[in-house]
Amino acid sequence: MHWTGFARLIVPLWGLASATSSSISEQDVAAHVIYSYAGLEPPAHLFDLIRQGKVGGIIIFGENVNASLPATMQLFQDAYTEGTGRSGFPLLTMTDQEGGEVRRLSGGPELSAKEIGSAANPAQTAEDAGTVAGRLLREYNFNTNLAPVVDVFQSPANFLNAFNRSFSDSPEVVQTCAERFIAGEAAENVLSAAKHFPGLGGAGEANTDNEPVTIESDWETLQNVDMQPYQHLIAAEVPMIMCSWAIYPAVDADRPAGLSSKWIKDTLRGQMGFKGVTITDAIEAGSLARFGNDAQRGVLAAQAGMDLLLASGRNATQGEAIVDALMAALQDGTLDAEEFDAATGRISKLRKGITV
Ligand SMILES: *[C@@H]1O[C@H](CO)[C@@H](O)[C@H](O)[C@H]1NC(C)=O
Ligand SMILES: *[C@@H]1O[C@H](CO)[C@@H](O)[C@H](O)[C@H]1NC(C)=O
Ligand SMILES: *[C@@H]1O[C@H](CO)[C@@H](O)[C@H](O)[C@H]1NC(C)=O
Repeated sequence: MHWTGFARLIVPLWGLASATSSSISEQDVAAHVIYSYAGLEPPAHLFDLIRQGKVGGIIIFGENVNASLPATMQLFQDAYTEGTGRSGFPLLTMTDQEGGEVRRLSGGPELSAKEIGSAANPAQTAEDAGTVAGRLLREYNFNTNLAPVVDVFQSPANFLNAFNRSFSDSPEVVQTCAERFIAGEAAENVLSAAKHFPGLGGAGEANTDNEPVTIESDWETLQNVDMQPYQHLIAAEVPMIMCSWAIYPAVDADRPAGLSSKWIKDTLRGQMGFKGVTITDAIEAGSLARFGNDAQRGVLAAQAGMDLLLASGRNATQGEAIVDALMAALQDGTLDAEEFDAATGRISKLRKGITV
């Protein structure tokens, strides 16, 4: 499979010497944080942070998009390469271009995941959608799409299915469509993030963006329905996985998956063997209300084994606060320096493989 190739070619340079908190720079820490901003005009402060190397990537929403956005995205990369804090690798530049209802950029894929999954030839239709998404992202100077949705809906009322965002209620169809969508994007040099591990298809009407969601599925259902497509995508070396903010008592009754080391370290990496990059859903999500402020949530997510933290609250101060909190947590030992360094290595390896 051609989209699996590049990850294997790069010799990992990290982890040769064991990291200590004092050997981890602010630039290394910043590589973990994805920033956002409000409106059409990015604030000058964000460009300053990029030049200083305090930004790992940018996520774009509909409110940021007009015909000047491709030029703006280039300005972000230029500020980074000309700045003092550069790593030599491009910034991660991402958006949610799933298809159907969820499209931030003007263009395709026009078909929703549901329409793709119910097409006469779902596999080819999914690959075509991935190609369309990949080409559009490239035209806009993006390198990463936070898609496809790999959630297997289990009731029609499911909040993702209500917007036609799930390919199917069949794990096999979801797996095939996701794999081919990712292949279509990879052929256009765009990274995909399969989401939302271990799966939001067992949820009802409540959305984790707004409120706490508990999914009571038993372990057997999680494994055989929700996680089955991930096992397949991991074998095919999917570059990124976004984790869910729902709570799954079958594995961890206290922490949402993206804040749970039982889910991320033990299950996703340990049991399922994922070696790519993990990314959180929105750190300001309503479902995390009881886990402190955004900076505290960022530290909890990093402790659980999350690599990239999504500061999507539409201001640059949110990302800055998270970088500062991660630095402090490394210094006082709240975060394990060696584990954090391994995560930085995964991110660098991912960024090294992208062309802007
Ligand atoms: C996009 O918005 C920015 C900020 O308002 C503006 O300067 C620019 O001219 C707009 N681009 C287009 C093509 O309308
Ligand atoms: C979902 O798809 C159905 C057709 O399959 C359509 O009637 C409905 O309007 C779509 N819903 C949304 C929110 O797009
Ligand atoms: C930035 O966004 C976060 C998350 O929505 C919010 O908590 C914070 O108050 C915002 N800060 C500013 C300065 O707007």
